[in-house]
Amino acid sequence: MDIISHYPLKNHNTFGISAFAKEFVQVHTVAELAETLRENYGKKLFILGGGSNMLLTKDIDALVIHVDLKGREVINEADGYAHVKAMAGENWHEFVLYCIENDLGGLENLSLIPGNVGTTPIQNIGAYGTEIKDTFVSCEAMEIATQQLRTFTKEECEFAYRESIFKGVLKDRYVIVSVTFRLTTIHHKINISYGDIAAELTKNGVAVPTIKDVSNAVTAIRQSKLPNPKELGNSGSFFKNPIITAEEFEKASTLHPEMPHYPVSDTRVKVPAGWLIEQSGFKGKRFGDAGVHAKQALVLVNYGNANGQELLDLSKKIQQTVLDNFGISIEAEVNII
Ligand code: EPU
Repeated sequence: MDIISHYPLKNHNTFGISAFAKEFVQVHTVAELAETLRENYGKKLFILGGGSNMLLTKDIDALVIHVDLKGREVINEADGYAHVKAMAGENWHEFVLYCIENDLGGLENLSLIPGNVGTTPIQNIGAYGTEIKDTFVSCEAMEIATQQLRTFTKEECEFAYRESIFKGVLKDRYVIVSVTFRLTTIHHKINISYGDIAAELTKNGVAVPTIKDVSNAVTAIRQSKLPNPKELGNSGSFFKNPIITAEEFEKASTLHPEMPHYPVSDTRVKVPAGWLIEQSGFKGKRFGDAGVHAKQALVLVNYGNANGQELLDLSKKIQQTVLDNFGISIEAEVNII
């Protein structure tokens, strides 16, 4: 494995930001990963997957390890379910398509999410009524300090909305090497209750949808709202939807009774950040090459040569305006580097 100095990261982050790694190495096997971690013990390390959930505001003063582990397999099948394992470096959407081609159900609502398999548990990716935790069985991860492999069960991952233990107490301590899902082989649980999926299927004349139909519908909806990172740099939702207390909601909604909201428990309410940002006047706005997507206000975009600091400044301006207007804090979902 060659370690390359001053390596350009523009093609390794979906925002398309120009920044450099002090050093960069690509690992293709679990053994190479262990060797790299062992040989570079004590150095500052940065683990890179698909680069789809980070904003680079500066060069990375570390050895960047690009996890390029490939492979996927059905490891067992019984009673209408299959356990399917994918290595961390597999592209997520290609893996979803592989599952659909093999008539394995459960991931179709998560079609077209950018990034790699290995990063999906870190923030419990979710879309269109499904989260990774719904089909997740376990993941295998290597402890950076000892190079020991450990299996994490679903409970041990402590999944919550866009959260897991890997963003919490175990942050920067493990490298995920593979993820195993439990998918249906028969009697697929079709979930078309979220948003526009049912309407999209009706438009396509589909009365009894297959998992492929659902995947196609989700793909079409995402394509209509979310920019393709290959054409317009972005990192998906830049912010999380805020979850506020019932009292906070009461206060905000007295002034803004039209505010959309979804109860998440008896005492907590989720408010769409996209709505708060749109109402604050930012949707479709452009400041130099940094902007807010015209079709989904939750997405910040790089029109070409924005740097990370400009996007970060824009995000802070949005956060402050939303706070001033609604008294609600919105938190970044992407990792700010
Ligand atoms: N809305 C607006 N204006 C906007 C965007 C949204 O008013 O510009 C309001 C509308 O009321 C709409 C509601 O927000 O009904 C929900 O919008 P949408 O269905 O587009 O979903 P979202 O809450 O904005 C979340 C995820 C997305 C995921 C979609 C669909 C988060 C942070 N984002 O967005 O995830 O694709 O639901 O399930 O939870 C991502 O994480 O990168 C991502 C794209």
